Amino acid sequence: MSLIKWVDFQILGDERGSLVALETDRAVPFEIKRVYYIYRTAENVSRGFHAHRNLKQVAICVAGRCRMVIDNGYVREDTWLDCPTKGLLIESMVWREMHDFSPDCVLLVLASEHFDESDYIRNYETFLEAATQ
Ligand code: TYD
Repeated sequence: MSLIKWVDFQILGDERGSLVALETDRAVPFEIKRVYYIYRTAENVSRGFHAHRNLKQVAICVAGRCRMVIDNGYVREDTWLDCPTKGLLIESMVWREMHDFSPDCVLLVLASEHFDESDYIRNYETFLEAATQ
């Protein structure tokens, strides 16, 4: 079974353009406690390289594109994020890496928890041990 789980957002568009609304428990399958975005990523920079013990996230590329690698300790997959109407659902205990950011990429992330450094697993070997035990 694929790790790639998309959430499709309804486009509230009219002749003026498009609008997407993101609401807890509607478009997004958890209570949104935090929103952050990554932008102006320098050339050839990759980010992420961690998993979260409890946190769930939905990542949406609202402009430009980047490539997301996700890995549950058994399976590693990658996909382009390049569509403002589709969010990638990243469950807890999934290793993620972001690569190949376009210069105009704005990656918006919705998170189920407030920021908590102790929820991060930043070492891949530690992640593998925890994910495959
Ligand atoms: P980090 O999650 O390591 O970024 P990435 O996975 O994209 O490479 O976060 C980078 C820094 O920003 C780190 O010092 C933690 C801090 N940070 C916050 O303070 N709050 C947040 O919500 C996030 C996501 C990061």
